[in-house]
Amino acid sequence: MAANVCRSMLSHAATAVRGSPPVFPRMHTVTLIPGDGIGPEISAAVMRIFEAAKAPIEWEERNVRAIKGPGHAWTIPPDAKESMDKTKIGLKGPLMTPVGAGHPSMNLLLRKSFDLYANVRPCVSIAGYETPYADVDLVTIRENTEGEYSGIEHVIVDGVVLSIKLITENASRRVARYAFRYARSNGRSAVTAVHKANIMRMSDGLFLRTCREEARNFEDVNYYEMSLDTVCLGLVQDPSQFDVLVMPNLYGDILSDLCAGLIGGLGVTPSGNMGADGVAIFESVHGTAPDIAGLDKANPTALLLSGVMMLRHMGLHAHAQRIQTACYDTIQDRKVLTKDLGGNSRCSEFTDEICRRVQDI
Ligand code: NAI
Repeated sequence: MAANVCRSMLSHAATAVRGSPPVFPRMHTVTLIPGDGIGPEISAAVMRIFEAAKAPIEWEERNVRAIKGPGHAWTIPPDAKESMDKTKIGLKGPLMTPVGAGHPSMNLLLRKSFDLYANVRPCVSIAGYETPYADVDLVTIRENTEGEYSGIEHVIVDGVVLSIKLITENASRRVARYAFRYARSNGRSAVTAVHKANIMRMSDGLFLRTCREEARNFEDVNYYEMSLDTVCLGLVQDPSQFDVLVMPNLYGDILSDLCAGLIGGLGVTPSGNMGADGVAIFESVHGTAPDIAGLDKANPTALLLSGVMMLRHMGLHAHAQRIQTACYDTIQDRKVLTKDLGGNSRCSEFTDEICRRVQDI
């Protein structure tokens, strides 16, 4: 595993100016799950940029594939679990999910294994990358553990399937509380609970009631409620009216991709899955892009910005800011861009450019 560990900060500090005492900033160990398809390429790009930015991160690389555990239940490999149990922080590339049969989504297994109950996706317009919307600055916070994703489905009789949407007060409360805390600590002024309580009166009604109760504990944050369909309409008409949106699992799955589309798509959108006591896995939200895997064509921006979110979560704000600025400046300059961003450059060239800029900041 030693080959997978980046020790750039140590070697940099060891070559400090002769005579002055060497400075060894505290290293933080992070579990890196490169993932499938383009995952290893974009992970390598992120590691290079972090090294250029002298981010004090040591990577513990773990491959995640589905294995059968006790009772023949699907699980994640023990070495990945051990690493995450120790580091508490992960950065993850995309993982392939077979359609219809085979193992379940490894993303869901990871979220379940570490009880990552809130999925957070900031969607902010990127200067120089034109979309029909210039002033998007919102955050979706999605309940990550239940709802229609509970996986409780059965055949009632031939031709009739029952799928259960599970909503609990506990899960609703903790994601609502997370949303208000997030708003407060990130200088955001409003939280909107997104629901369909007019139709799903009991399940979404419970979600809404807990959001309302939590809102009373955060009087400095404005609280609104809005039906999912009204939010969809409002997002395509004027996304600037929204701030923090909190919602049950399935609504969040769909709405967060819609919001990613407003700022240029999944290739530029970061995300984080947050659990209790600071445990978190940050991930790019796009898939494995099998059509371009291994061709040096992938855009590493989403994983890089997820890494920036991770650095902020770890309190490494200066490193986060430098990397974000270098990435945004590269995109705004429009000279070295990957194909999906409208350019002709390779992933490695785009990465080189960000590395060059980050060293100058
Ligand atoms: P996809 O996101 O992999 O690809 C859709 C299109 O976007 C492709 O043309 C691809 O080349 C392009 N694309 C995606 N990411 C890109 C990037 N960083 N740079 C440049 N182009 C990029 O979606 P698809 O094809 O539906 O899924 C492929 C596999 O990925 C499936 O096995 C699916 O289960 C998995 N997947 C994993 C996710 C995760 O781990 N978070 C999320 C979505 C899908």
